[in-house]
Amino acid sequence: MQVLITVQEMRAACRAIRRNGQSLGLVPTMGALHAGHIALVRAARSQCDVVAASIFVNPTQFGPNEDFAKYPRTFEQDCAMLRSESVALVFAPQPEEMYPTGASTIVEVEGVGDRLDGASRPGHFRGVATVVAKLFHIAAPDKAFFGQKDAAQVAVLRRMVRDLNFDLELIVCPTMREPDGLALSSRNRYLSAEQRTRALVLSSALNAISAAYRAGQKDVARLLEAGRHAIAAEPEVRIDYLAIVDWDTLMPFTEARAGALVAVAAHVGSTRLIDNTILE
Ligand code: PAF
Repeated sequence: MQVLITVQEMRAACRAIRRNGQSLGLVPTMGALHAGHIALVRAARSQCDVVAASIFVNPTQFGPNEDFAKYPRTFEQDCAMLRSESVALVFAPQPEEMYPTGASTIVEVEGVGDRLDGASRPGHFRGVATVVAKLFHIAAPDKAFFGQKDAAQVAVLRRMVRDLNFDLELIVCPTMREPDGLALSSRNRYLSAEQRTRALVLSSALNAISAAYRAGQKDVARLLEAGRHAIAAEPEVRIDYLAIVDWDTLMPFTEARAGALVAVAAHVGSTRLIDNTILE
């Protein structure tokens, strides 16, 4: 496994793979890898000849009072996991490599990028779209792999790929969960045992909404009420948003339908968690 730290090295390594006639799958990450990331790597391995991953805690997608400084950094462990999954290339640049002095170009996905997490975390999706656009240009993968857990991010990146004519396919892989339903997230490691138990109300709320929908309830206000009721079982869990939206536009529905995205973000102590499900 090659670990590359400059744009030039990564670009050359990816170019060599393409020249060799091999397809390239890219798994962009911020490190602190868990089984959800490994599922993305395995999906990439099953669909592409060669897999590359990036590990970059992207400063531009964190707000001034967010957890950039304390975001878990477990580089050696991450590399060991990627090596054992036969990842060929790891791109691990420093912030100055990705954002040299004077860099002033940003990618802003208007509309979609201002909804859900984009509304709660102003500028977040601008940072995500900018860094992912740069990774796509550097690696030029055939396919790029993202988790459904970050469903709003997926909507923003799908729009960006379409609008900016990136010649790649964006593949979305299912959310990985602990046996008790907690969605895997690098931020779960911030939770105390007690907070971790409280956080289970998020998947319970999504399940309550799905069950009510399957039982015939289509009214979004009532479905959301069922979700809020489930979360209220843990008064220390503070809802940021709970919404039923179109997964492409992130615009809210008033009447639920199959394929709608039910998305929640909430604070458990000082940790902000997100989760979602699709109505069937
Ligand atoms: O989902 C993430 O880990 C990040 O937002 C991403 C896509 C790697 C961009 O920094």
